[in-house]
Amino acid sequence: MTAEETARYVVTAAVWAPSVHNTQPWRFTAVRQQISLHADAARQLRVADPDGREMLISCGAALFTARLALRSLGFVPETDVLPDPGQPLLVARVSWPRRAASTEFEQALFGQVRQRRTHRGGFDPVPLPPGLLAALRESAARYGAMLRIVADDGRRAALAAAVEEAERTQRLDGERTRELARWAPAPGSPRTDGVPPDSYPARAEHTDPDFPGRDFAHGHGWGLPPLSTARWPRSAGVAALLTTARDRPADWINAGQALQRILLTAATSGAATALNTQPLEFGRLRESIRTGLSDGAYPQMVLRFGAVIQAAASVRRPPDDVLSTGGSEDDSTGEG
Ligand SMILES: Cc1cc2nc3c(=O)[nH]c(=O)nc-3n(C[C@H](O)[C@H](O)[C@H](O)COP(=O)(O)O)c2cc1C
Repeated sequence: MTAEETARYVVTAAVWAPSVHNTQPWRFTAVRQQISLHADAARQLRVADPDGREMLISCGAALFTARLALRSLGFVPETDVLPDPGQPLLVARVSWPRRAASTEFEQALFGQVRQRRTHRGGFDPVPLPPGLLAALRESAARYGAMLRIVADDGRRAALAAAVEEAERTQRLDGERTRELARWAPAPGSPRTDGVPPDSYPARAEHTDPDFPGRDFAHGHGWGLPPLSTARWPRSAGVAALLTTARDRPADWINAGQALQRILLTAATSGAATALNTQPLEFGRLRESIRTGLSDGAYPQMVLRFGAVIQAAASVRRPPDDVLSTGGSEDDSTGEG
């Protein structure tokens, strides 16, 4: 494989990372044996994510996936993460100077990159595989983040109430609603970004406590019909917060790396993950979660884990839309 072919293989996998509203806010530049990953600020959610926190979490997830793709080829990635004050949109540079055989676990994680889907709804009332939560916590710790399981009933209800309040507020806010609608294409749309109707349920699946999902269908009735095999009532699953001790761009990128390792690890055990980050897009709610539910650490993601049969689809832009190769790197940073 030439360096360019390796870069293409890596980016073909990396685009399958999760991103907020499937904005895919990334660009890759490959020069010789190095890939630079830049955030694509044109895809930032200016209303819901003015600081670019969720944009950089998304880029961090793509960075983890790129590194995992290199491991799947038996390369040892060397990674420089931000900050570079001269290039504010530069997320990381990755090169692959050495080789070492990949482990079975790395191959298993890599095998889930294209299979994994965000779940939107409730779960079957069955326990998670033993040892999974410990493995997920370890995934977070590797990137300096912490996965805090919100097990206590009162705290779980408080977290659900914050999601509910954020969702209610968002639905009454014209600017936020319009921004979300721009990333929620209609059925049959040829778009390769945004959240397609075959990735969320047409009828909200209520759980106890209720963690309402985002209103991607905005009143059109779009979405998947309920699975006939679904068992009722649905469980809310195991709720958790992914947190970081500080709240700088580098922390967001590392939270994104931790997030993707967590999602892929859960997927290897057959567990699904739902994301309910709505309250983290409101300063007041994020602050109350930080002080009330996460010991003062900064909440970066709200997650729920559980077992469920998933039918969701997802789309991605083709790698050629996001990868530039060959030229000098400065030609393609998009920051000029
Ligand atoms: C920072 C971040 C925040 C997200 N927040 C939510 C959310 O609140 N609700 C939701 O349904 N999905 C959320 N997602 C999942 C994305 O919508 C999802 O990754 C994207 O649509 C691609 O779909 P896939 O993960 O199934 O491939 C979030 C993802 C990221 C990276």
